[in-house]
Amino acid sequence: MIIAIDGPAASGKGTLAKRLADHFGLPHLDTGLLYRAVGRRMLDEGLRLEDSEAAAAIAEELEVVDLDETRLRGGEMGEAASVVAAYPKVRKALLDLQRRFAHQRGGAVLDGRDIGTVIAPGAEAKIFVTATPETRARRRHEELRRRGADLPFEDVLADIRRRDARDAGRADAPLKPAPDAQVLDTTALDIEAAFQAAVVIVQRRA
Ligand code: C5P
Repeated sequence: MIIAIDGPAASGKGTLAKRLADHFGLPHLDTGLLYRAVGRRMLDEGLRLEDSEAAAAIAEELEVVDLDETRLRGGEMGEAASVVAAYPKVRKALLDLQRRFAHQRGGAVLDGRDIGTVIAPGAEAKIFVTATPETRARRRHEELRRRGADLPFEDVLADIRRRDARDAGRADAPLKPAPDAQVLDTTALDIEAAFQAAVVIVQRRA
């Protein structure tokens, strides 16, 4: 069984995907980490994010084992990721790796922006997780504060809006629900309620 979880930044899709993977005993891939890893390597090597050829070359070499989550989290990596994620050659270079992950152990939970539309169009269950920009910014702001980074709320909201616009506005694999995805709006739901709703969706589809 393949479960595709898509949605905008800070929608809670990552937490949801992890919990669904535990619940159904499936491997989980946070595909945002792939784009974050490409952005990180570009910055580490002093390359300009505008250099799409260099980004594609890095993406071609990337493996799932290279994904060191602790170095890839954080707002500025999300920003760099969304720049390189707009390059068709980067997306193409990461396609096979994601499809292999989805199928190699007989199923998986993948979360990202284009899982239901491009990576796994045949997924048994597709959920598009969303919430208002203000709600997502509030959650992200709380999370940052817990980790000791006290950014102004307005900055966090502006970052979320910028990333939404870039992800939804790009020509290649823009952020949008697959026609057969179930939309799960978590604006008024806590994590537990969102998880329960997601389990029901998966059980109904699978
Ligand atoms: O989900 P996360 O915030 O970690 O993703 C970082 C960026 O990577 C997103 O803003 C998006 O531009 C890109 N991304 C993507 N396709 C995916 C996952 C992430 O374009 N499947």
